[in-house]
Amino acid sequence: MIRSRILGVGRYLPEKRVTNFDLAKMFDTSDEWIRQRTGIVERRFADAGVYCSDLALEASNEALKNAGMKAEELDFIIYATLSPDHHFPGNGCYLQTKLGLANIGAMDIRNQCSGFIYSLATADAFVRIGMYKRILVVGAEVHSSGLSFTDEGRDVSVIFGDGAGAVIIGPSEDPSRGILTNHLHADGAFANILHLEMFDISQKPCLTHEMLDRGSLWPRMKGKEVFRVAVTRIPEVIEEALKAANLKVEDVDLFIPHQANLRINQFAAAKLGVAEEKFYSNIQRYGNTTAASLPIALSEALEEGLIKGGSVVVFVAFGAGFTWACSVMRW
Ligand SMILES: CC(C)(COP(=O)(O)OP(=O)(O)OC[C@H]1O[C@@H](n2cnc3c(N)ncnc32)[C@H](O)[C@@H]1OP(=O)(O)O)[C@@H](O)C(=O)NCCC(=O)NCCS
Repeated sequence: MIRSRILGVGRYLPEKRVTNFDLAKMFDTSDEWIRQRTGIVERRFADAGVYCSDLALEASNEALKNAGMKAEELDFIIYATLSPDHHFPGNGCYLQTKLGLANIGAMDIRNQCSGFIYSLATADAFVRIGMYKRILVVGAEVHSSGLSFTDEGRDVSVIFGDGAGAVIIGPSEDPSRGILTNHLHADGAFANILHLEMFDISQKPCLTHEMLDRGSLWPRMKGKEVFRVAVTRIPEVIEEALKAANLKVEDVDLFIPHQANLRINQFAAAKLGVAEEKFYSNIQRYGNTTAASLPIALSEALEEGLIKGGSVVVFVAFGAGFTWACSVMRW
């Protein structure tokens, strides 16, 4: 049986740090409010003129270097984002040309906070059927251009940050190591709980001044509802995935949860009876970077020596859609 594994990992965070105190100068909020409810202390914002694909390029180059590969050796690109450079074409195409490549396939996955795991599962399937051998999977976001830094938008704008992470997926020489199982879920009945209207394709034209005036450019979120469902779905999908991999919670060396809210992850860890230190956390420094949060966290966890050959690592995510997903791998 062919398994796929991660051959290289990279991340890129813009240099500009924006603290909670900086946000409190822009609208009515406080460091205490943000820290208590989310764990976030600061986040990074890309400068004006920087595209999502620019962040992705930096992370991809680091992942390639880490895998000891040249971009020319890639045979496919999967790009997860909710903040693409433009409405179309997909960001995989922009990234491809920035990498100096042509002709290889490139696709976008738009599953928000679960986008990286959906992408990983797609790459895993391509590798296992023998279709591709070197797939670049990237998650990248520029949220800072799409948030309302006002009292009205503060519940959402304090949460998100910019960043990118990338991995290279290829066949594992050792069939006991690599991605063991993937579990992808969605429930569109919750679509309006966390969404961005931006345009409405049923209207002609699909974007009007009136829509912009009523704020359709800004994401809307019913935070309590997101919290409530997330703390149920995250432990549930972890249990489902571990069962499929024939593993127990105690067998897991590191959980890498999507960095949406420190409290959501603390709740999930407690529900599973797992020590909080086993749930990786860097939301304090970056906020919620949506599709980028898992590969950024993986890259840092590796650097910190938290993952070694043979370690069991669990990725889990929950977000808009609602979508939620889990991957289990033996490193
Ligand atoms: C967003 C979240 C932190 C809000 O916390 P909460 O305890 O649910 O807060 P509420 O929305 O009930 O608001 C409580 C009060 O704080 C206010 N408030 C909202 N945002 C604020 C901010 N940034 N600063 C200060 N006050 C704020 C509200 O206006 C409200 O005031 P009121 O009581 O006078 O009406 C929390 O619901 C959450 O984290 N949800 C999950 C969100 C998430 O993870 N999203 C990403 C999914 S991938």
